[in-house]
This record gives sequence, C-alpha cells and structure tokens, in this order.
Amino acid sequence: MTDGKFVVLEGIDGSGTSTHARLLGKWLRSQGHSVVVTHEPTTRKIGVMIQRNIKTEETSAVVDALLFAADRVDHLEHIIEPSLAANKIVISDRYVESSIAYQTSAGLKMDWVLEINKFVKNPDLTIIFDIEPEKGLRRKAKTGDKFENVIFLRKVREIYLQRAKAQQYPVIKTDRSIGDVQADLQNLIQTIL
Ligand code: TYD
Repeated sequence: MTDGKFVVLEGIDGSGTSTHARLLGKWLRSQGHSVVVTHEPTTRKIGVMIQRNIKTEETSAVVDALLFAADRVDHLEHIIEPSLAANKIVISDRYVESSIAYQTSAGLKMDWVLEINKFVKNPDLTIIFDIEPEKGLRRKAKTGDKFENVIFLRKVREIYLQRAKAQQYPVIKTDRSIGDVQADLQNLIQTIL
C-alpha cells in the first residue's frame, strides 16, 4: 500500500482531463490502489452554485474567483484531506492552476488569485494537458459555459504553459490517441508512487 498521494490534472476545456482522470483511476485500482477521482467545481453546495453562475454569466470575475477558491477549501476539507488520511490516491480534475489560468485570463491579477488560494494544500504532482483550443472545443460534445471560446482559451492555454515552465509541471500533449496519452500519464504517476 502507498501513502496517500494527491495528483491534479489541468488543462483547457476539451483537453481531456475528465476522461483521463477516470481512466487513470481505473488503472490505479487495477494495480491494487485505493483511489478517489474528484473534480472542481465540486458537486457540493458552492460548486453547484458556480456551475449555475458560469452558465448564465450572473457573476463577475472577482466573484467567480472567490467562489472557486471557497469551493476548493471546502473540497479539501471534505473530500481531499479525509481521502489522503485514509491513504488513498486522490486524482483531482482541476485545482488551483485552473483559477490561476482562467481567472487571470478573465482580467484578474495573478498575485491576488494566488493570495486567495493560499489556504489549500499543494498537490504531490500537477500535470498540464496541452491542446490547441480549436481542437479541444471540437472534442466537446456540447459547449455550455462562458469560458468556452477560442479567444479566451488561447489566453488560458498561454498561462498554463507559462506556469508549467515556472513551476516545472510536466506537460502532456493530448492531441493524440487516448491510449498514448494514458500511457504517458501512467508513466508519470509511477514516479511518485
Ligand atoms: P469543468 O466542469 O471542468 O467544465 P465542463 O463542465 O465543461 O467539464 O469546469 C467548468 C469551467 O470552470 C471550465 O470552463 C473551467 C472553469 N474553472 C475556472 O474558471 N476556475 C477554476 O478554478 C475551476 C476549477 C474551473
């Protein structure tokens, strides 16, 4: 049995984080690990409020940033920490880097976004999925929220890649077959198990 590990998958809409979080979870379970696959925004109260806001454009960038940060603390307290304490591997589809990339692209200062996100734990591994926004959006069955447009996602992608360089996050190109991407992901995860 491994100690609890906290892995985060990040990337623009349509980059494949949800599919690969699920497949990685399945593979790790087949290897005998106990795994929790989770997602932000969460399905808890604050996360549900966010999902509604971003579909109807009800809220400003500042309010969105504060809600995403609050949802994250709630996520940590109720799902991530208890799972890590039970020695599970936690795979989160999105986390702090989503706020840095998206809310900075929406016009907020990166330092402030970092500041309001300082209450949460750092992951053991953050992986950035990279794809061109045009290709990512084409992959999505249905587009639905205010962030899903090519011009905006170009900025988001740029910030993800800058952060990957600055923080030395591994980047996986996801404009490839699911099998190839999953194989790279599994290799990366093995480095922390
Ligand atoms: P997600 O649920 O991953 O998108 P989908 O429902 O299409 O699978 O995330 C919803 C949107 O919220 C997505 O466009 C990214 C954005 N987002 C932020 O802007 N900041 C954040 O901190 C998070 C977690 C997500």
